[in-house]
Amino acid sequence: VIRSGCFCAAQHLHICLLMFTDAEVSCQFGQSCILPCRFTPGDHLEIYWIQLTTTLANVHSYYDNKDQLEVQDQRFRGRTSLFQDQISKGNASLQLTGVMVQDQGRYRCYTITNTDEITSLLTVQIVYGKRNNNSFLTEIKQICK
Ligand SMILES: *[C@@H]1O[C@H](CO)[C@@H](O)[C@H](O)[C@H]1NC(C)=O
Ligand SMILES: *[C@@H]1O[C@H](CO)[C@@H](O)[C@H](O)[C@H]1NC(C)=O
Repeated sequence: VIRSGCFCAAQHLHICLLMFTDAEVSCQFGQSCILPCRFTPGDHLEIYWIQLTTTLANVHSYYDNKDQLEVQDQRFRGRTSLFQDQISKGNASLQLTGVMVQDQGRYRCYTITNTDEITSLLTVQIVYGKRNNNSFLTEIKQICK
């Protein structure tokens, strides 16, 4: 995915759209973004957000009625949150702030309750919104090196 991201960035720096089969969400570089995920509410809820890189990256975990960030991948430290008031309504959407090029890729939202176990897949693409800003290009160059 990073590889296609690099190709895409080289072709059209200002707007980078990739085609995937999973549900897709576009996130603007440097901004915050909501990764949607729904589940059927139930007791003993556990939520696991994972980025499907070559090694699975732990993006955000929630169980025992609270966030569990001890094993969070350091790339996501301080940048993720769930909507606490929405969780009881079956909304496990994740807010990601300060979106970076490396956030691009596939994510798995995995929820467990006493009655259900749901896995949903999501592809996040990074869109570069503003022209004349080199920080996106610099980041792409570092990844493509
Ligand atoms: C370039 O984009 C980054 C990330 O969105 C932002 O933090 C920075 O302020 C921008 N710089 C300029 C000159 O617009
Ligand atoms: C989940 O909650 C967030 C924050 O209130 C909201 O933006 C989003 O639309 C909700 N998603 C669903 C599927 O209800």
